[in-house]
Amino acid sequence: MKASEIRRTFLDFFAEKGHTIVPSSSLVPHGDPTLLFTNAGMVQFKDVFLGRESRSYRRATTSQKCVRAGGKHNDLDSVGRTARHHTFFEMLGNFSFGDYFKKDAIALAWELLTERLKLPRERLWITIYQDDDEAFGLWQGMAGVPAERIVRLGEKDNFWSMGDTGPCGPCSEVHYDRGEEFSCGPNCGIGQCECDRWLEIWNLVFMQYNRDERGQLTPLPRPSIDTGMGLERIASVLQGVNSNYDTDLLRPLLTFVEERTGQRYFSDQRGFPFRVIADHARSCTFLVSDGVLPSNEGRGYVLRRILRRALRLARNLGINRPFIHELVPVIAEIMADAYPEIGARSGHLAQVIRQEEERFLSTLAEASRVAQEMVDKVRATGGTVIPGEDAFQLYDTYGFPLDLTEDLAAENDLTVDKTGFARAMEEQRERARGARQT
Ligand code: GLY
Repeated sequence: MKASEIRRTFLDFFAEKGHTIVPSSSLVPHGDPTLLFTNAGMVQFKDVFLGRESRSYRRATTSQKCVRAGGKHNDLDSVGRTARHHTFFEMLGNFSFGDYFKKDAIALAWELLTERLKLPRERLWITIYQDDDEAFGLWQGMAGVPAERIVRLGEKDNFWSMGDTGPCGPCSEVHYDRGEEFSCGPNCGIGQCECDRWLEIWNLVFMQYNRDERGQLTPLPRPSIDTGMGLERIASVLQGVNSNYDTDLLRPLLTFVEERTGQRYFSDQRGFPFRVIADHARSCTFLVSDGVLPSNEGRGYVLRRILRRALRLARNLGINRPFIHELVPVIAEIMADAYPEIGARSGHLAQVIRQEEERFLSTLAEASRVAQEMVDKVRATGGTVIPGEDAFQLYDTYGFPLDLTEDLAAENDLTVDKTGFARAMEEQRERARGARQT
């Protein structure tokens, strides 16, 4: 099943069940300074959950653009290393604002997965919050999931919060077992390892509380439902491929990079730069489309870091020219039916990305030479850590974000002294403050 059909099937299913189909909101959360980017489907409904805003509907469904590259939910470091993490992804969700609760949320999810999408029941595992006996009873009694496939986990895994503050609640996740052959060893298991065998495909959050700045929980006006299913993940399952990157959402981007670099993509560690380039190109395209511009702070700096990282990896593949913007038309074509605005403005988006690439490339060759010297110096002395001041010099003089120095360090089996980097940054700020006051 194509990703566009999955998106449609999900939304139509919930529309049939009385949900209003609501368009994705912007990646830049509207009027919410607590959040860098929209990181889940519920973000646009935050005030509805909190009882501060009412809508004409009490059930909604969306396919939401999300970026997880900062703040509480940050998948940046996992991108390219696993088959399932992204900075940009789409989250399919259904929401109840004080309408149905746990029982219906579980029944609807089970019906969609097993009857509409026809996933084999025996591959589905469930996690629940440790003392949520009600959820246990519903999964076992109503859905017929055997008790041994319902796993109780603690707060880290099964209590979902949007950010440090805001709506939150215990949750229950549906995992798809890819099979024994994906196992990472004797300790492989849900909640025990991070391997690609157990694919978390859907998170059902039983929204019950608001967390305030002091960490205190107060009950929401009405218990509600917020769910999130990663489109790329469910597409990998339904398309019978082992990685999100092999789905029709991402594979054409890898093929494009293969064609332009003349190098073959491998799904193992060798494919890391391809995967990061594909993922980051999507983030950059959608962030620029939602009005974020590269800059030295806040959202703009996250965009700059992501773009520069992708470009450096393209350089590792032998491309020494602005390149990431060339992926914009490919992304526009893949996403055209759901996000026509990307296609309509792809020339402009590519131009913004290209300008930032040119800016960085003007210093990248020199920066890479200096960075390599730093690496060589550490290795020559038998060390394993690039000093924080060196990493800061790269950042300050050449606009080389810390992540890039970390990537370079990892490629050479080294690490970076991040504390030293932060100290050097702080010292420079102090100097700047002092200079302004004299
Ligand atoms: N809001 C549910 C999730 O992001 O998993």
